[in-house]
Amino acid sequence: MASSESGDRALEALLQENRRFAPSEEFRAQANVRDPEIYQRARQDPEGYWAEQARRLSWFEPFREVLRWEPPHAQWFVGGKLNAAYNCVDRHAESDRRNKAAIIWEGEPGDQRILTYGQLQREVARCANGLKRLGVKAGDRVTIYMGMIPELPIAMLACARIGAVHSVVFGGFSAEALRDRINDAQAEVVLTADGGWRRGQVVPLKAQVDKALEGASSVRHVVVVRRVGEAASVNWRAGRDLDWQEWLASESWHCEPEPMDSEAPLFILYTSGTTGKPKGIVHTTAGYLTGVETTTRMVFDLKDRDVYWCTADIGWVTGHSYVIYGPLANGATTLMYEGTPDFPDRGRNWQLVEKYGVNIYYTAPTAIRAHMRWGTEWPERYDLSSLRLLGSVGEPINPEAWMWYWEHIGGRRTPIVDTWWQTETGAIMISPLPGLTEAKPGSATRPLPGIEAEVVDLAGNPVPPGAGGYLVLTRPWPSMLRTIWGDDKRYQETYWSRFPGRYFTGDGAKRDEDGYFWLLGRVDDVINVSGHRIGTMEVESALVDHPSVAEAAVIGRHDPLKGQAIAAFVTLKEAVDTSEALKQELKAHVVQKIGAIARPDDLFFAAELPKTRSGKIMRRLLRDIAEGRALGDTTTLADPAVVERLKAQYQEEA
Ligand code: WTA
Repeated sequence: MASSESGDRALEALLQENRRFAPSEEFRAQANVRDPEIYQRARQDPEGYWAEQARRLSWFEPFREVLRWEPPHAQWFVGGKLNAAYNCVDRHAESDRRNKAAIIWEGEPGDQRILTYGQLQREVARCANGLKRLGVKAGDRVTIYMGMIPELPIAMLACARIGAVHSVVFGGFSAEALRDRINDAQAEVVLTADGGWRRGQVVPLKAQVDKALEGASSVRHVVVVRRVGEAASVNWRAGRDLDWQEWLASESWHCEPEPMDSEAPLFILYTSGTTGKPKGIVHTTAGYLTGVETTTRMVFDLKDRDVYWCTADIGWVTGHSYVIYGPLANGATTLMYEGTPDFPDRGRNWQLVEKYGVNIYYTAPTAIRAHMRWGTEWPERYDLSSLRLLGSVGEPINPEAWMWYWEHIGGRRTPIVDTWWQTETGAIMISPLPGLTEAKPGSATRPLPGIEAEVVDLAGNPVPPGAGGYLVLTRPWPSMLRTIWGDDKRYQETYWSRFPGRYFTGDGAKRDEDGYFWLLGRVDDVINVSGHRIGTMEVESALVDHPSVAEAAVIGRHDPLKGQAIAAFVTLKEAVDTSEALKQELKAHVVQKIGAIARPDDLFFAAELPKTRSGKIMRRLLRDIAEGRALGDTTTLADPAVVERLKAQYQEEA
């Protein structure tokens, strides 16, 4: 296991974690899930359990078969027809929720917009009609590259309404990263904005789209929301580019939702894997929606009167599932905020909690650690008494951060749900049920009803309590990815070949005597920086793309704030000299190829990289160096002196 050494030490500390937090009587009494029998029922009849959950959705035609499992391909709710936008919008707009807030949006400069279910229905229908007018049909791909503005969910739901497949690309990705994703999906339409606000500055978006579309492209039309107006200069390509407002000005508010097959793709979302090429994770309509509807209701204990806020950007899976599809499928009020938590000051999030009376708040450990560092004076300035449940996602939460969250944000009242899941799983897999589960800070606790997980060794045998191993999911579940877009072979190999018949998560884990799961981080070449997944190979490819670079090895090293930081070891071509300027240039090159999230924190010029006799770079040793540890086993190295020299040099420079 790649991270076993640091993982082991962290875990020893974790397993000493004896604090337990049972739900209060008061919370338990009102919880959506109160009966512990639910686990047993779901285990005895998983298909019956999931069918029951799926029937909470609105169907145009009922499904005839719950699961058709031809490993590793699953079909769920076979024969059914439904529409995701109808389920997230219309069925609420047509009920007494018509004038209930669906989306409360606040822009970074403080502007706001509240869309009721009725308004959202009209906006989504208009946008769907606009897409149809551009010739977009069911099954076509539409790339969406926007900041956190209401047009983003409107665009996603409009695609869903007509059966088009959306591919949302996080607005922080570079033009080149965007181009790869547009090309891979062969999108014909791109929906974007002139720019977005971030810490008082404009993030240019349309300019990046222009760059991404240089040369040959499948894209026929680009539609641009005017978000920042004068603040961004925007070039227009006549015939290709359209202004969002003008585009929709004469479209009707009525658009029949397309009845889609249960297994029709709903969206593609690109995520990092172990190669340099991002994977287009494919999610389908009925299974995905069942997964997010169920988990939002159960894990967040969502009630009709709640104001719910998940701080994730919609460009990531957490935003897809828990800003938009999960809460809206439940008819909830979901809050969306455009900016960052430290602008105009470090109290911004707590100000919003007070302003809108947020009841449920879901964020990442890296954000919690940033708030810890900024100090309790910020949350103390605001009334946070509306909060009744807190959530965490994206990386393991260290017990100190858990305790701080519980005390200073939750006021020692609110349960905390530490939710483990992935882009591929679509929905939360391992998490407390807040009315039932006794939490232990740092553990995601147990698989949800209907989900079966195990920790296994290399041979696939379950390991005893307390031993480390690989986390696998042993049964198919409705919201599982169906394939990798355009590369089913990679789907089979990545997830299903290591332990045939079982889904390999890429995470290491241990289980304790109570059966609780403790996540230990990735065991593959994926690193987790501030809860964002980045492939070390992607960063390496970006570095070797630079003319001065001969070789590059990238690792994640422990970082107290971000979880992991990116450390790059680079060897230069002959006749190229090292310099601070080149260091900065190489970092900037990575930003240009991928985006600011992949910018190396440390960049280190090495004369040589430690390699095995067969020429494999030993990243494990680089990690030892970067984390200041004694070097692990070096006997397989071609030349052990290389790594010793590197270590001495690193200590000197760092
Ligand atoms: C990590 C984000 C520990 C894990 C939803 C996983 C976590 C990867 C947790 C997926 C958690 C996510 N505890 N680790 N509660 N949640 N992870 O695809 O390594 O962006 O494999 O999905 O994040 O990242 P992704």
